[in-house]
Amino acid sequence: MQVRRLSLTNFRNYARLVLDLPPGVVLLHGDNAQGKTNLLEAIYFLATTRSPHASVDQQLINWDALQSDDPVIAGRLEADVLRPDGPRHLEMRLIIEERGMWTTNGQGSFRREAVINKRTVRLMDLLGQLRVVLFLPEDVELATGPPANRRRYLNITLCQVDAEYCRELSNYNKVLEQRNALLRRMAEGQTRNAADVLQVLTDKLVEPGSVVLQRRAAFLAEMARLAQDIYFRDLIGGRESLRLGYLPGWYTNGRKTGDELLSEGDRLQEMPDRATIAERFAAELALARATDMARGMSTVGPHRDDWAILVNAKNLGPFGSRGQVRTAILALKLAEIGWMKAATDDTPILLLDEVSAELDQHRRAALLAYILEQARGRGTGQALLTSTDPALFTPEFLAVATTLRVAGGRIEPSQ
Ligand SMILES: Nc1ncnc2c1ncn2[C@@H]1O[C@H](COP(=O)(O)OP(=O)(O)OP(=O)(O)O)[C@@H](O)[C@H]1O
Ligand SMILES: [Mg+2]
Repeated sequence: MQVRRLSLTNFRNYARLVLDLPPGVVLLHGDNAQGKTNLLEAIYFLATTRSPHASVDQQLINWDALQSDDPVIAGRLEADVLRPDGPRHLEMRLIIEERGMWTTNGQGSFRREAVINKRTVRLMDLLGQLRVVLFLPEDVELATGPPANRRRYLNITLCQVDAEYCRELSNYNKVLEQRNALLRRMAEGQTRNAADVLQVLTDKLVEPGSVVLQRRAAFLAEMARLAQDIYFRDLIGGRESLRLGYLPGWYTNGRKTGDELLSEGDRLQEMPDRATIAERFAAELALARATDMARGMSTVGPHRDDWAILVNAKNLGPFGSRGQVRTAILALKLAEIGWMKAATDDTPILLLDEVSAELDQHRRAALLAYILEQARGRGTGQALLTSTDPALFTPEFLAVATTLRVAGGRIEPSQ
């Protein structure tokens, strides 16, 4: 897979950009605050319909454009993508309209529009059209940050590849919202005799929830296998073991901890069929019913789950050194490429922001060698890297890469 042309209008610090991109490795370099990360963000946004930072989408629109008095302001991202099944034109519009009119805050109303080959589609249809693996310096927070980060990672990554996962996740969230609203009213004593409705909503959670649970557990099991291999063989030379464990929310509710929790996750990862998972999930929902009613919220289910990276059987989040965390996340990201390749029979586009600066010499060399191998091996792959300092890259790497200079929202070939 390859982005051949990227066009941005009023996106972040790009008022207008049309950029033709070659296949293979592209190095974007430039000083701080010039637009390197913003460019990767634009491609990631087209692929996932999300910003890598859990920020508000309005913030993506160019500030200067927002200063104008126009009643409608639009940010636009477009990509000509070359896929194994042919070319495709993808577009995402960020639109603020009715500005200055009598809307809730006087700021206008915001909406997003997705377009494929000039036809308007649902936002969800954009997923899977362009597939990327993004590596940001702040990805270490996947190990050390709150569980919501890790769930977000699972959801975004799986949605790029698995349309059923994405659909069922969305169904699950809709029912969950209704169930939580009802539980809240019940806890506040506003609703009586709602037991039947609660039961209906509880039953409706089971099917989509089980799909989400099953796909997540299978994903982590496969990713663990790939990541362990990369970590062991390429990155640290066989000294440590790496594991990924799924931590179901029904055990994190204070009933069990530590090893017991992990073995529960292992059982889930080994559970083969959806019916077994559904049965288990339904039983856990029934067990949690009284707690849910008292607390006015749904306390078990995939929306409360977590997962952990374990190095030598220790949870990396609380116990890993900074370098260990960084290396494990790198292994995870490289595993993600392998996983996507296997699942889609195509190479995703690699987006690496400022990663080499964060790694020691050995790991940097291993990473660059890996990227070059990818780029050479297929001929059709593409990797975009950013750096403030091209001197961090080896001459072999620079000989193969196309280097572009980013300055003040403009991009030019570097001399
Ligand atoms: N909505 C927006 N409109 C205009 N400019 C924005 C918007 N959002 C962010 N910017 C600005 O875009 C500039 C470039 O940001 P970006 O993160 O791409 O820089 P960078 O080249 O990656 O720098 P660094 O080397 O520091 O990581 C920053 O000055 C930032 O403040
Ligand atoms: Mg940056």
